[in-house]
Amino acid sequence: LSNPKNVAIIMDGNGRWAQLRGKPRTYGHIKGARVAKKIVTECASQKLESLILYTFSTENWLRPATEVGFLMGLLRRYLKRETQSLVRQNIKFTVIGDVDRLPKDILEAVRFAETSTASNTGLKLVFALSYGSRAEITSAIKEIANRVLQGELEVSQIDENLVQRALQTSTLPDPDLIIRTSGEVRLSNFLLWQSAYSELYFTKTLWPDFNAEQLALAFVDYSNRTRKFGGIAKYEDATH
Ligand code: FPP
Repeated sequence: LSNPKNVAIIMDGNGRWAQLRGKPRTYGHIKGARVAKKIVTECASQKLESLILYTFSTENWLRPATEVGFLMGLLRRYLKRETQSLVRQNIKFTVIGDVDRLPKDILEAVRFAETSTASNTGLKLVFALSYGSRAEITSAIKEIANRVLQGELEVSQIDENLVQRALQTSTLPDPDLIIRTSGEVRLSNFLLWQSAYSELYFTKTLWPDFNAEQLALAFVDYSNRTRKFGGIAKYEDATH
């Protein structure tokens, strides 16, 4: 296999990284945001098609208000500082998630970054913000049910393609590879529909320690796998 073209990352372990250094968790988030910036640039220069970053989950709202406020502040600064750099790097920025829950000024900064980069043709960079996969699937079901009620659609016309198009990732390819840092081995409500055939890569490295070399290791691991999508691998095929 060659390198993955579509990658999604669960950036985990900022808090533990900081605590290991006797610092407040927020210190880890600051370093984590810097790492995110570097990985975005690396993926753009490697000509990936898409990169989805799990930046804030619906469950993250349950953290102490001070930590939520701090993460929102980081996001605000990232968007303000990076929008022009995304434009220059030909990166097209969008978001998925229940973004109406975000503070108004952040939502405006998100929309500004989206419109500023809308005509870019390089890496599709997606921030999952206030994102939860079950909520995403639930609203897709509601939308489809409404279309049936309106008489626009027959139940028999509901197929996997139609469901896919009702998701917030409708314009994005499914991830080839999903990376999770920090040693946790689960998806935590991230891209549950879209990950049906994704390769999963888990590393013990904490997100603030992640870098281009670690990304390259994940890509090597990916390229050594055989993706079968439920079928049989090509070399097996030849023997039958
Ligand atoms: C996981 O660490 C991190 C998050 C809450 C989401 C990711 C956020 C960042 C990387 C910083 C902001 C990024 C940008 C681009 C503005 P954790 O707090 O869950 O760590 P822990 O599991 O060790 O507690």
